[in-house]
Amino acid sequence: RTVYVNGQYLPEQEASVSIFDRGFLFADGVYEVTSVLGGKLIDFDGHARRLQRSLGEMEMRAPVERGELLAIHRELVTLNEIEDGLIYLQVTRGAPADRDFVYPDEDVAPTIVLFTQSKPGLADSPAARAGISVITIPDARWGRRDIKTVQLLYPSMGKMAAKKAGADDAWMVEDGQVTEGTSNNAYIVKNGAIITRQLSTEILHGITRAAVLRLAREAQMTVEERGFTPDEAREADEAFVTSASAFVMPVVKIDGVALGEGTPGPVARRLREIYLEEAL
Ligand code: PDD
Repeated sequence: RTVYVNGQYLPEQEASVSIFDRGFLFADGVYEVTSVLGGKLIDFDGHARRLQRSLGEMEMRAPVERGELLAIHRELVTLNEIEDGLIYLQVTRGAPADRDFVYPDEDVAPTIVLFTQSKPGLADSPAARAGISVITIPDARWGRRDIKTVQLLYPSMGKMAAKKAGADDAWMVEDGQVTEGTSNNAYIVKNGAIITRQLSTEILHGITRAAVLRLAREAQMTVEERGFTPDEAREADEAFVTSASAFVMPVVKIDGVALGEGTPGPVARRLREIYLEEAL
């Protein structure tokens, strides 16, 4: 596989980053995941804009401008012959001479890394046909979840807790309400209304979320942007999550309780269909 690191395209075995890199030492970095379907980048603009915002909130400068970023994404898709898959992008505050909590001076260049992951048939996964199960866990992350940082230990622990409980993923709960999934935004459907938490610093502003809510409104579906409790979720007609890698993924079980028939519901299936139709 050919990867991109700080201006160079290299075989993955030859790519490297300093041990002093602040991404490695402090999780001082941000990332984006963009999907590729049929060789085409999905929602690149949204991801580029959110990256810009994350960098701004972290007081980091952009290592490359938007046009260049798009060119790198396209080049990696071509070089690695990606039909369906993902592109991972990470920007960190670079590698100063020593470990120091204080940000380095402007002369320390940010580190930028991109790599691809080929996932044939990404849009046609068995999980999407069967639906996934989730458990609920406390949300113990930091308070700026609107910034897409590489600080992913807690979400990783959440996925492990889900795995140990025989489930596929975890929904995180704060002050009695669901915030989001470990790596996706969370939704329930009740009496035809799509309910998902409003945007704030408590959740990531999903690019797929924005597209799906726009499509739902265009299709005259009712959307309520508000928090919901785990109890409300377990009593919902259906549920689903959205992300760049899962698109719209039906959730059929919450904390061991099957929703409706225990199979993907009509609203989740329809949204997945119209999202993929527009993407392809
Ligand atoms: N995760 N919420 C969290 C906490 C996320 O990590 C993600 C994305 C989302 C969905 O955002 P988007 O629709 O822009 O992908 C919501 C990526 C896919 C990941 O970490 O792999």
